[in-house]
Amino acid sequence: MDEGTFERAKEFARKLFEGDSSGHDIYHTIRVHDLARTICAQEGGDMDMVRLAALLHDVDDRKLFGDNGFMNARTFMDSESIPVEDQLFICDIISQVSFKGKDSVVPGTLEGKIVQDADRMDAIGAIGIARAFAYGGSKGRAMYIPGDAPKEGMSEKEYFSNQGTSVNHFHEKLLLLKDMMNTETAKRMAQHRHDYMVGYLDEFMSEWEGRL
Ligand code: ADP
Ligand code: NI
Repeated sequence: MDEGTFERAKEFARKLFEGDSSGHDIYHTIRVHDLARTICAQEGGDMDMVRLAALLHDVDDRKLFGDNGFMNARTFMDSESIPVEDQLFICDIISQVSFKGKDSVVPGTLEGKIVQDADRMDAIGAIGIARAFAYGGSKGRAMYIPGDAPKEGMSEKEYFSNQGTSVNHFHEKLLLLKDMMNTETAKRMAQHRHDYMVGYLDEFMSEWEGRL
């Protein structure tokens, strides 16, 4: 695939996410692309498909665009004359990538597993912490409410309608991601980011309770 296609995919995503403050800025997309590339270089798989799927993975996000049949991704791929079977392959990856509580799916292809790992990697660690509070803030949610317990084992429906605090989001999603990574490369990278978040939450609680 022509390098220009990836550059134009980046521009396409940049325009769509302009002004978004819910963690879907273009830099998330670029980080996922770079992470997916790193993981693919270790794990194998079709690098072109991985890169294109990573760049397009959020362009039809349900939270931003509703259930639109991957219209944005398809419009872009049509404009690049991407063959229909490749378009279906990419849309399949996009449909399986997101976290849906206990209804999350394991992608059927290696390329899908890699893109899902990369997207989840960007939700944890130092950047994950920043994104969680930025997202919570954009929705007017509290950082933390004492006595407000995280919900366990949420279904897709419960997860998407949940209005919990940002600290609860760590327990409801972010701390679960390490064990949901598909590839060995991602599992190794996730461990470090996971430990960092655990340390951060520990520090947060100590400060909250005036122990530090
Ligand atoms: P992704 O593109 O990584 O699948 P999402 O669309 O689910 O991410 O959410 C964007 C970012 O906001 C992620 O970092 C995610 O962890 C965070 N986020 C999603 N829901 C919440 C929430 N209820 N509270 C705090 N952060 C959230
Ligand atoms: Ni994403």
